[in-house]
Amino acid sequence: MRTVRQDHSAADEPDQGGRAIELLVTLDRSGGTVEPLHAQIERQLREGVRGGRLAPGTRLPATRELAQQLRVSRGVVVEAYAQLTAEGYLATRRGAGTVVAEALRRVAPPRPAPLPRTVPEDFHPGMPDLAGFPRAAWMRSLRAGARDAPDAALGYVDPAGATVLRAALARYLGRARGVAADPEQLLVTSGLQQGVALLGRVLRRRGVRRVAVEDPGFLVHRAVLSNCGLEPVPVPVDEHGLRTDALAGVAAGAVLVTPAHQAPLGSVLAPSRRAALLAWAERNDAFVIEDDYDAEYRYDREPVGALQGLAPERVAYAGCASKVLVPGLRLGWLALPRTLYDAVRTEKTLDDLGTPVLDQLALADFVERGELDRHLRRMRPRYRARRDALVAALAEHLPEWRVDGVAAGLHTVALLPEDADEAALLAHAKRHDMILHGLSWYRVTPGPPGLVLGYGALAEPALTHAVHRLAAVYDSLPAAR
Ligand SMILES: Cc1ncc(COP(=O)(O)O)c(C=O)c1O
Repeated sequence: MRTVRQDHSAADEPDQGGRAIELLVTLDRSGGTVEPLHAQIERQLREGVRGGRLAPGTRLPATRELAQQLRVSRGVVVEAYAQLTAEGYLATRRGAGTVVAEALRRVAPPRPAPLPRTVPEDFHPGMPDLAGFPRAAWMRSLRAGARDAPDAALGYVDPAGATVLRAALARYLGRARGVAADPEQLLVTSGLQQGVALLGRVLRRRGVRRVAVEDPGFLVHRAVLSNCGLEPVPVPVDEHGLRTDALAGVAAGAVLVTPAHQAPLGSVLAPSRRAALLAWAERNDAFVIEDDYDAEYRYDREPVGALQGLAPERVAYAGCASKVLVPGLRLGWLALPRTLYDAVRTEKTLDDLGTPVLDQLALADFVERGELDRHLRRMRPRYRARRDALVAALAEHLPEWRVDGVAAGLHTVALLPEDADEAALLAHAKRHDMILHGLSWYRVTPGPPGLVLGYGALAEPALTHAVHRLAAVYDSLPAAR
């Protein structure tokens, strides 16, 4: 992608105050498109005019300059400008070069004003559809658990978790996630976050000082690890997940990854990188902490299985009910290497003596009766439809934003034009009662601006409306376009 910043005072056209304009023109030279270069430029300028990014009267870069910056021959730009002039999008103004046609001022659709707010809009990443929680089925499981539990189950029991739940989870994780899970290696936690905290403390006691984390990655994990006295070491992520080549020089006793659906970028750890990650762990006698927070939701194919299945003695697997059901349950689980199990169990004992048992029994019943599978079967198409609606609305209202990541989970990432001011957009949106989540929140190393857009909690009409408003907010951002 090439952003062309043009200051006409320096161009071959007369200076009219030196106002700088920016053209975002992307040329695909990969051979993956049959669209000639001039047509690509034409299309993007046309969209820019139609979408209001290039307002009537805006002066365009001189043909020579644009050609130079896009590394095409001048004739290509001349052809594009001529075509758009013939179509009425551009005009040649004496002394000012090529401008967006003034005539369009009269016909251009008015920019949408920020719509009045009806409901609070929050693209909360990772928030599931709370209204979709299967209350009746959960109540049945709660009742069954409370009714059938022997008295002994209600006393101080194993802090690692109720036996029936560990057995149910072992079966479920084995068949649904490819986890090699013996109930004896499973430990029930209060949400996934507690699992990371328990592991962090155990690793620290074993002498680990540094834990490699994905950058960008889930900020809460970094905070939890720091809180355990560990230093999170950022390792970059790309469209194939964690850059395992960048791990080579990292002296860390563990690495925390989200292989099935990278949080937040949404990439899937490539097979070669899975192998490289495990080899790195083996070489360094380090552990991998696998955060498998939302892997059940994959919309274009079957989810990839857990990394843990490949190396159960190297990988500490962490999962939770927070996405497959709701976060308020605060239920999570760990499948642990044998070498860590007792120490983690001790930490859990010291924390809280175990997770509330009636909730554990309810979850065991819920899983064993197939209710979790039924719930997932019901929710997958719902979330998929929401994702599709979000992506379609973004393409329509904010075509210059780029949606990234595989079709999975409860959030997607929108990369903004390189020169967009993410912080200003977040602040501006907040003034319009819209809560956005910036990609910079997830980053350790600064990078291109973006948003992490959760769609799980918003039905399609609400999502479409929210994107419409988001576009209006973005348009009204001073100097956004
Ligand atoms: C990547 C990731 N891991 C873990 C969690 C937290 O899970 P829990 O609510 O079970 O602690 C979240 C929650 O948003 C998350 O996004």
